[in-house]
Amino acid sequence: MKPIKIAEGVWDVGVTDWNIRDFHGYSTYSGSTYNAFLIIDEKIALIDTVKAHFVDQLLEHIAQIVDPKKIDLVISNHTEMDHTGGLPRVMHRIGENKPLYCSKMGRKNLVRHFSQPWNYHEVASGNELSLGRRNLSFLETRMLHWPDSMFTLLKEDQILFSSDAFGQHLASPAQFDDQADPGALWLQAKKYFANILLPYAPKILKLIEDVEAMGLAPSMICPDHGILWRKDPMAIVNAYRDWALQKPVKRAIVVYDTMWHSTEAMAEAVTAGLAAEGVPAQPIHIRSSHRSDIITEAMDAGAMVFGSPTLNNQMFPTVADVLTYMKGLRPKNKIAAAFGSYGWSGEAVKLVHQELAAMGCEMVGTDVRLPYVPDAEGRKACFDLGRSVGQALKARLENA
Ligand code: FEO
Repeated sequence: MKPIKIAEGVWDVGVTDWNIRDFHGYSTYSGSTYNAFLIIDEKIALIDTVKAHFVDQLLEHIAQIVDPKKIDLVISNHTEMDHTGGLPRVMHRIGENKPLYCSKMGRKNLVRHFSQPWNYHEVASGNELSLGRRNLSFLETRMLHWPDSMFTLLKEDQILFSSDAFGQHLASPAQFDDQADPGALWLQAKKYFANILLPYAPKILKLIEDVEAMGLAPSMICPDHGILWRKDPMAIVNAYRDWALQKPVKRAIVVYDTMWHSTEAMAEAVTAGLAAEGVPAQPIHIRSSHRSDIITEAMDAGAMVFGSPTLNNQMFPTVADVLTYMKGLRPKNKIAAAFGSYGWSGEAVKLVHQELAAMGCEMVGTDVRLPYVPDAEGRKACFDLGRSVGQALKARLENA
């Protein structure tokens, strides 16, 4: 239970949100945490706060270590409300005129959020702040995950407070990576990347390059969500590099919805075609899966085939939902195709094809459109579509 001492004079005073299951549309079936960090030195610093309705817990955790009024300064690494919702109460409690350090964009956002004339101090990459015996340095990390985002490094200890980056929506009795179930930890870390950070993959690669050039070798990485990385902090940095590169792997997903099981039968035939080519494939019924889990599966799959029935001359609304969500997350390096059953007009397959192409997918094979219930010939066409996609993926991987 928090507060937890994570290093000499450094505490995680954040909170665990065991019950959250929907984080602005992202399924968080393992809950989450809002981590906040207290550094006790000649000056006392608080890094980030928590969601508004958890602020009493935050203040109680701080009070177990030090009277909150003794906090000398606050650092806001990121202004999204899960980290700043509690800020007005914190500032009120510690003293409204205490210095509040943030990036230039952070200051703008904090004013927009709270309209408070706090004692702002803007910081930029390379700026340092002495706490007495130890020093903090700042690194702006724009768009990871908002334009205001930044990292704070406790230099002498090489502890990196990384805000959203390297986080996971995972509530757990474990505090550190060496205490956590690795399966749950890495699944949630990957899901977090796929749903929050994937659109910014090029910026992540540049950031990793810059951090390596600076010779930064953190002893611990402390994100604002989930488990802290201390056993091998570079493992998550290296995973971020791999995920950001979006190198395709020999795996496919067949994502579909269905009205009367016809498109479902087509999905199964496409999946069988992929398997016949030696490409592991997974059919995913959209109404049995959350969109945030589908994008997690899609992130490193080399191919994705989408199936949709036609409803009122449109693709099925759930298919449109997933495609819209996926398009915004900008997955790269995908081979794709479309299929679907229809009754009398059958526009869905063409519309799905257009969306996948607009996402930058390489469209392969011949899309399959079948009226009503697929017959043996129709199923064969779907099987062949799966084979074509599988062959195209294997060719791409061989030529990579
Ligand atoms: Fe955890 Fe972008 O907020």
